[in-house]
Amino acid sequence: MSEKEALTRFGVSMPKYLVEQLDGMISKQGYENRSEALRDLVRKALLEPDLLVKSQSVAGTIVMVYDHHATDLPAILTEIQHDYHHEIISTMHIHLNHNQCLEIIVVRGLLDKIQQLHQTIQVQKGVVYAQLSVTHIDQDEDANHHNHHHHDYHHGHE
Ligand code: NI
Repeated sequence: MSEKEALTRFGVSMPKYLVEQLDGMISKQGYENRSEALRDLVRKALLEPDLLVKSQSVAGTIVMVYDHHATDLPAILTEIQHDYHHEIISTMHIHLNHNQCLEIIVVRGLLDKIQQLHQTIQVQKGVVYAQLSVTHIDQDEDANHHNHHHHDYHHGHE
C-alpha cells in the first residue's frame, strides 16, 4: 500500500439524526460501512469544480438543456463547440420534445479551459440549464494500472 493510500483514523461527531440518515443511505446504496461511504462523500465534495486547481487535467461532462427555437442558438452552440474542439471528445444530442434539446458534451482538458467552455454555453440566451461535472485525471494512473484501488477513486461523481 502506498503512503498515499495508507489509512488514517479520526473521530467524527455528528447529531444522531444525521448518523441515522447516513446509515439509511449506506444500506440503500450498498456501502459496506460508514468509512467507505464517507470516503466517497469526501471525494465527491473535493471534485466540485470550484475546489479543483485550474491548471489540472480533468475529464467530465457538460449536460445542457436548451430551446432550439431561440434565435440562432443552434448555430451559436455549434460555433462555440468548434472553438473548443481540442477539449470536446464527443457530443450526444437528444430531442426532448418539440422545443427542447438535451445535449451531453464529453470533455477532457485543462479545468480552466473546460470552465470557460461551460460558462460560455451557460450564458447563451435560450440555454435553460448547463451543468459541468468533472473528475481530475490522476497523473500517476498509468504507473499504477495494476492497482485496483485506483479504480474506486474515479467512481461516484454526478
Ligand atoms: Ni434537438
